[in-house]
Amino acid sequence: MSADQRPRVFVARRLFPEVVDRLRPHFEVDYREADDPMTAEALMARLQGCAGALIAGTEPINAPLLDACPQLRAVCSMAVGFNNIDVPACTAHGVLATNAPGVLTETTADFGFALMMATARRITESEHWLRAGRWLHWSVDLFAGSDVHGATLGIIGMGRIGQAIARRGALGFGMKVAYHNRSRLPAEEEAALGARYLGLHELLREVDHLVIVVPYSQQTHHLIGAAELDLMKPTATLTNIARGGVVDDAALAQALKARRIAAAGLDVFEGEPQLNPALLEVPNIVLTPHIASASLPTRRAMADLAATNLIAALTGGAPPTALNPEVLERRG
Ligand code: GLV
Repeated sequence: MSADQRPRVFVARRLFPEVVDRLRPHFEVDYREADDPMTAEALMARLQGCAGALIAGTEPINAPLLDACPQLRAVCSMAVGFNNIDVPACTAHGVLATNAPGVLTETTADFGFALMMATARRITESEHWLRAGRWLHWSVDLFAGSDVHGATLGIIGMGRIGQAIARRGALGFGMKVAYHNRSRLPAEEEAALGARYLGLHELLREVDHLVIVVPYSQQTHHLIGAAELDLMKPTATLTNIARGGVVDDAALAQALKARRIAAAGLDVFEGEPQLNPALLEVPNIVLTPHIASASLPTRRAMADLAATNLIAALTGGAPPTALNPEVLERRG
């Protein structure tokens, strides 16, 4: 195939150059080497004439965009969460959608666990205090937090990442693991993880450390709000590495301020990268900028998987992590 007959693809974000180079033999690549997210309108304009797009978890792929881009055949995201992609609309438009599960599981679980530990042991709060020159003497309860080992770990969302966090808690720290999920795990998987299934409210009442890893959807919007926070122990911590919007950030800030729970660790925020200013006003919180999957090897692997999916989707191959493989079956 000569160069000008190659399908055109759009890479919406700055990526690793070697990953973009993998696309070049197959496609005419329109590479937007930028870090700022695109508006729906800009994305729509840029996708004109493109057969494929490599995106992150921020670019909105919805029915109006698909209507406006009839040549589009594949949208491949380097994120595992795909709440930015309307998968049924992609299927209806014959557009293959892919995400990037698996390659980030252990890295993200490491981070979730680290954030939970930093929250329980007040690591950043004490660092800010120390940097401010306020350490004048030792005292018996100086930044005394709560124990992680032996405590009850509650996980909301028991997919791959939730299970990897459960293993860390049970095997590494002797934690008692309880979880809540849309569907209960098979008994042998529960036994292997040493995890107990609980209803959401029961879980909230029991946990010492809650870690949220559930995908964002209409059903999980504000899954944790004021009423749910009220059920938790005053000594409990909450860690959110799922998506902004699963937790009601305003209600959380209030609960932290009133010490209705002890502390929170947040890697994701409603409306990020903007933050609810109330979150910045409370000391008992650890804040990170959506970096749970950000080890260099893992971010490379995520981008690489998106490229593999895109190449396969547009060259008659089998994309390894399709969200709507029925589109390919229909293509025959
Ligand atoms: C990160 O949040 C992802 O969904 O990959």
